[in-house]
Amino acid sequence: MATHRHWLLLLFLPWALLSRRGAQPPDALYPVVLLPGNTCSQLEARLTDAYEPPPESPQCGAGSNERGRWFRLWRNATAMDDPAVAPCLADQLRVVYDPAARDFRNEPGVETRVLGFGSTADFLADTEANKDLCMGRLVEALQQAGYRDGETLFGAPYDFRQAPAARGQPCRAFARFTRRLRALVERASRENGGRPVVIVSHSQGGYFALEFLNRSPLPWRRRYVKHYVMASTGAGGFLLPLRNLASVPRDALEAPDALVALPSPAVFGPGTPPLVVTRARNYTARDIPEFLAAIGVPPLGVTLYETRALPLQLGFRAPVVPTTCINGVGQPTMEQLVYWDGNFSETPQVVYGDGDGFLPVASIVALDTVIGGDPRQEYYKSIKLAGTSHAGVVSDAAALKRVVDEILWSPPI
Ligand SMILES: *[C@@H]1O[C@H](CO)[C@@H](O)[C@H](O)[C@H]1NC(C)=O
Ligand SMILES: *[C@@H]1O[C@H](CO)[C@@H](O)[C@H](O)[C@H]1NC(C)=O
Ligand SMILES: *[C@@H]1O[C@H](CO)[C@@H](O)[C@H](O)[C@H]1NC(C)=O
Repeated sequence: MATHRHWLLLLFLPWALLSRRGAQPPDALYPVVLLPGNTCSQLEARLTDAYEPPPESPQCGAGSNERGRWFRLWRNATAMDDPAVAPCLADQLRVVYDPAARDFRNEPGVETRVLGFGSTADFLADTEANKDLCMGRLVEALQQAGYRDGETLFGAPYDFRQAPAARGQPCRAFARFTRRLRALVERASRENGGRPVVIVSHSQGGYFALEFLNRSPLPWRRRYVKHYVMASTGAGGFLLPLRNLASVPRDALEAPDALVALPSPAVFGPGTPPLVVTRARNYTARDIPEFLAAIGVPPLGVTLYETRALPLQLGFRAPVVPTTCINGVGQPTMEQLVYWDGNFSETPQVVYGDGDGFLPVASIVALDTVIGGDPRQEYYKSIKLAGTSHAGVVSDAAALKRVVDEILWSPPI
């Protein structure tokens, strides 16, 4: 009997494999995995008894009906508009640095999870603007091209409050994301006849995708990644986090994503104009530690920049899989901040230059040398869309067509 079943298996196995292959139309789509930008993933939270409400908002704790139940933490417009609840949300969204764990984590008593990993259905789309920003239009365009969520189209949302940290620095959030994304890519490939996947990121998603790729074994990348399409990520960060940190210096301890996006000395090096100008002294990207100290960032915040964020910026490098970078240019973009009197609490005078409205053109052009110039990077293509904004790259009709064409196109391997 056992032998008989064994034989049956042997007889049916090749047939089953052939029929599965035969079921695939010859022009079957390559599976696509999307990583959206900052604030585009939705988070759920659950409070435990360890949660202590902030002293000025005791209503967030006592008698709260939220304990033990998962609720929408981000984005929860109802709660944000309720003056009694908004401070609770702000408090529960904080991440704090835990020196014992050498890592960022939620506040004690707040558990969080990312909504809808594996799908694009829960990317933030509560307003038209968020739909534009958060790949909603791209998802629609891909569906028109025949893609189906959960079958050929997959989403990799992530905890955008966290950021990958330099190698050797504990970063549980990114380690967990890496494990889940690796499993997702393998599943997407397996369920699509073993085809390699196309990874597409927008904005902050690029930091996650690139670090994910660069920390995956090269044979794995070559086996599973057909093409990486990176939209609206620069090789050297941008100036907005500089200005934001100047107005809220404590964020250096609570917003690791801001530290990673600061202008990189690898791109804004000697010979580039200073990023910050005061009467007494100027600051280039190399002087960011001094700048952080000058604006009032606590010493721990400066150390976190130097140990977790800066090495990551300096390690921005080619993923060694076929890569296309798509960026907007021709939009007024913050290029220099002038605090003439050296008072960083004041609103700076902003000098504008070229870019996508967030990323200065220097950060965009540097992709061509950092990724395109790496001798190991066999296929690299750069598309610069004139007059297109940071979000426009994944939402303007003409830009979307270019992005979808890149996703559907097969680069020579
Ligand atoms: C939004 O937040 C409020 C207050 O925390 C909560 O009661 C509500 O359930 C949340 N909404 C969703 C959809 O989870
Ligand atoms: C700061 O930079 C500006 C513009 O590049 C330059 O004109 C000025 O001399 C510099 N100031 C100092 C104090 O180095
Ligand atoms: C700096 O600017 C802030 C905001 O305008 C003001 O309140 C403060 O007094 C200024 N500090 C100094 C030392 O001038």
